[in-house]
Amino acid sequence: MASSSNSILLNLYTFIIIISLVSHSTESLCTNPPHIFNFGDSNSDTGGLVALGYSIGSPYGRTFFGRPAGRLCDGRLVIDFLCQSVKTGFLTAYMESLGSTFSNGANFAVVGSSTLPKFVPFALNVQVMQFLHFKSRSNELLSAGSQKMINDDGFQKALYMIDIGQNDIADAFAKKYSYAQVVKRLPSILAEIKNAIKTIHDHGGRKFWVHNTGPLGCLPQKMWLVQPTSKDLDPHGCLASYNSAANLFNEGLRRLSARLRSELKDSTIIYVDIYAIKYDIIANASNYGFSSPLMACCGFGGPPYNYNINVTCGHGGSQACNQGSKFISWDGIHYTEAANSIVASKILSQQYSTPQVPFDFFCH
Ligand SMILES: *[C@@H]1O[C@H](CO)[C@@H](O)[C@H](O)[C@H]1NC(C)=O
Ligand SMILES: *[C@@H]1O[C@H](CO)[C@@H](O)[C@H](O)[C@H]1NC(C)=O
Repeated sequence: MASSSNSILLNLYTFIIIISLVSHSTESLCTNPPHIFNFGDSNSDTGGLVALGYSIGSPYGRTFFGRPAGRLCDGRLVIDFLCQSVKTGFLTAYMESLGSTFSNGANFAVVGSSTLPKFVPFALNVQVMQFLHFKSRSNELLSAGSQKMINDDGFQKALYMIDIGQNDIADAFAKKYSYAQVVKRLPSILAEIKNAIKTIHDHGGRKFWVHNTGPLGCLPQKMWLVQPTSKDLDPHGCLASYNSAANLFNEGLRRLSARLRSELKDSTIIYVDIYAIKYDIIANASNYGFSSPLMACCGFGGPPYNYNINVTCGHGGSQACNQGSKFISWDGIHYTEAANSIVASKILSQQYSTPQVPFDFFCH
């Protein structure tokens, strides 16, 4: 009796040690997380589209939330994992009116957003305008005696995250622009990202975290739409022209970040190579436990892509795989929670960041 309860205690003790080792290696000791303001598209929308009244149905959200949670994923997005790493809550969509306190920041990202055209919902410049409104309303409410609003110091210490550009490039290809025409549009897309950072800086923001765009040509949806022949493919079976355009955009974004770093000397601007992270996971899929890197878990049609534009995930006739954890692509456009978790841990490794600043650097 005594020995069996001792061994239970011993097991429990070992278990606690293992848990604390695991949590120390992956989690930071952030006691005072920064406010986070995020701007972007479906890669980081945590509820903007559904706050507009659109619905995202089951099986979205099945892996983590156990219900559709306003995200185009079976579970958490990269930004959710980043928030968890600094022990702050998931970001609330700016347009989610009921129950929102925005005590840890706000998420302006909305599914489908691009940088251009401007002044249409929810282009990057509109998202920034919404942020400016948020900031001036916070000031008004503070002056009126509210305790809970973010103050100027909070806005200055906040982390401003940007992850946009994928839809600009995808839309250009969808309009049947030639590769040369797509490339010609890249500088104007980059100029919008520059405007966003400078506008936020003009209003006191000093900490920026910029994600580049992933390998667009590896998305099952794009593969299905283009139905490429072998001459269109890159070494890992993705659309070569789409990936080259994404790479050129990223090269421009990297240089833009460097220029802004020397121009805005009072600021920290981190550029993160999401493309390299995602392309590695696709190229080396089996090392990460994934099979069929170019096939969606949830969709219609089976191999090679399990995608059909008329029967998309969550709509009648579509089917989801049993083990989402074996897939990189959830619905043909968006990554699974399993893939997002790996992307996030690679981001947190700092190896893909310029400069190599840890994410919890922004805790204070
Ligand atoms: C695949 O993994 C190998 C070994 O880690 C690495 O050298 C290579 O760069 C990876 N491929 C891509 C496309 O990242
Ligand atoms: C999708 O639906 C459209 C309109 O009904 C039809 O023209 C098209 O052939 C369908 N495509 C596929 C792949 O089923």
